[in-house]
Amino acid sequence: MKKSKLIAMKNRSLVTLAGHTREKIEYLIRMAQEFEKYPNRRILAGKVVATLFFEPSTRTRLSFETAANRLGARVIGFADPKVTSGTKGETLKDTIMMVSSYADVIVMRHFLEGAALYASEVAPVPIVNAGDGANQHPSQTMLDLYTINQTQGTLDNLNIYMVGDLKYGRTVHSLLMAMRHFNPTFHFIAPDELAMPAVYKRYCDEYGIKYVEHQDFDADTISDADILYMTRVQKERFADLDEYERVKDRYLLKKDMLCKARPNMKILHPLPRVNEIEYSIDDTPYAYYFQQAQNGLYARQALICDVLGITLEDVKNDKTIL
Ligand code: CP
Repeated sequence: MKKSKLIAMKNRSLVTLAGHTREKIEYLIRMAQEFEKYPNRRILAGKVVATLFFEPSTRTRLSFETAANRLGARVIGFADPKVTSGTKGETLKDTIMMVSSYADVIVMRHFLEGAALYASEVAPVPIVNAGDGANQHPSQTMLDLYTINQTQGTLDNLNIYMVGDLKYGRTVHSLLMAMRHFNPTFHFIAPDELAMPAVYKRYCDEYGIKYVEHQDFDADTISDADILYMTRVQKERFADLDEYERVKDRYLLKKDMLCKARPNMKILHPLPRVNEIEYSIDDTPYAYYFQQAQNGLYARQALICDVLGITLEDVKNDKTIL
């Protein structure tokens, strides 16, 4: 492979959305909208997408694989690292180098923060970060932005409440950073043990993003929310399981807490849900988490195309729609 092509491809990796401009985010939303209109095409015929999941996943892996399949690509990979030669001592670098020689793009979830960045530095093909430890989850954020825009008609000037595990929840970290272009007001609702880390509050300060911290979680506190972003307490990140037991059920959204909600308010959750949202809420007009997960398909179709250098214009002019 020519060196110039190699550099260009490396630069297309998606490790975080933090560096994306407002225009780039809006562009990706427009591309995802094209895929929502026509998700079945052959625009990726001849391509191979690898999904390497070193941590469990339902939505992210299956929606990436569905995205690739519906666009005509073939998919290789693993859902469980125990079946790989990593168990024999093979390094992440060697694994990435090998898979790069088989696939055109690698979607990777890893338990170590920074693993996606590292992979993007060694891989000759684009890496898409499907979650690295408690750090970032940019493809989730892309579908979250798509969903927020879809439900609110805009990304600008919204009150976004983030509830639950704000310490270990990579989805809230990613979303907070990507929203910096859109003048949000964040409300962080978490127990002390799971508060939004100082580094993200400093990020808010640096970019002039307003935020308020709460511990109460009741109808009055959330009455002016446009988006109520619930999160699971990330059991797998706790060093002390007694601490997990103390905080795991602290914030349960109950139906009667929606009595003062704005009509436009939508409840999002990256899922899986454990004990954060009462099931009776699923039938209310506020619940939007299953549509949010479905949007993952269109957002991830856009992201795979983007890292492969396929443009919005290419997608609009695509003649392979099925
Ligand atoms: N939202 C999300 O990352 O879900 P999975 O862990 O099931 O992929």
